[in-house]
Amino acid sequence: MSILRAENLTKTYQSGGRTLTVLNSVSFEIQPGDTFSIVGPSGSGKTTLLGLCAGLDRASSGSIYLNNIKLDTLSEDERAAVRNQYVGFIFQNFQLLPTLTALENVMVPLELRGEKRAGKTAQELLERVGLGQRGHHYPTQLSGGEQQRVSLARAFANRPKILFADEPTGNLDTDTSANVVDLIFELNREAGTTLVLVTHDLELASRTQRIIRIKGGNLVSDTLTENRITTN
Ligand SMILES: Nc1ncnc2c1ncn2[C@@H]1O[C@H](COP(=O)(O)OP(=O)(O)OP(=O)(O)O)[C@@H](O)[C@H]1O
Ligand SMILES: [Mg+2]
Repeated sequence: MSILRAENLTKTYQSGGRTLTVLNSVSFEIQPGDTFSIVGPSGSGKTTLLGLCAGLDRASSGSIYLNNIKLDTLSEDERAAVRNQYVGFIFQNFQLLPTLTALENVMVPLELRGEKRAGKTAQELLERVGLGQRGHHYPTQLSGGEQQRVSLARAFANRPKILFADEPTGNLDTDTSANVVDLIFELNREAGTTLVLVTHDLELASRTQRIIRIKGGNLVSDTLTENRITTN
């Protein structure tokens, strides 16, 4: 059974009486525990595709099945509930809530789920990403790499079945980015999470088991990497 299935996903925007096709009938399937990257030039539709897969946005046509739940017919609230239950998301620009401390940011998804020991779990996650002492700091008091590690802790808070990461190292320097990437793969391995990664970095993509390439909204290639053999 696949954890994610995209069927003829198409996304169009209307502007000035014209139709702009941003994604054109994209289909693929991901098995539980796979690590998967989406690569392609700027503007090719990668973020759009990730947003559709995570249920953040709606396709113009085609379907997404997340853990066998068909997302396209769900209401906004129902999709939010599915996201909270199954999905972790890491954004290029971190997207932490500025008025909450690091600890409170990690607690948000836990509290949404009604977890009683949200504070303790969040503290453990912060320790896991090396920020156990920084829980009381606000996002503006943290460096970019630290903010991205908080967002990683937040993404793993719900023990997601699938983690989506959109250029998670796009705003980080080389050393910090290597550190964040190692942490993503480490947490992913420990939790057995499926990882879907958007990246410009082909070296990073080559660490996943499978790479799909998008160009002008079309899926142009779907390749298994050698990691497939060693990790499966
Ligand atoms: N709301 C919108 N209205 C019109 N066009 C849009 C909208 N959102 C995105 N697009 C267009 O869709 C295309 C794909 O955008 P998307 O953000 O998915 O690209 P991307 O592959 O993630 O690019 P990058 O690597 O630069 O992040 C772009 O041409 C963009 O301008
Ligand atoms: Mg993008």
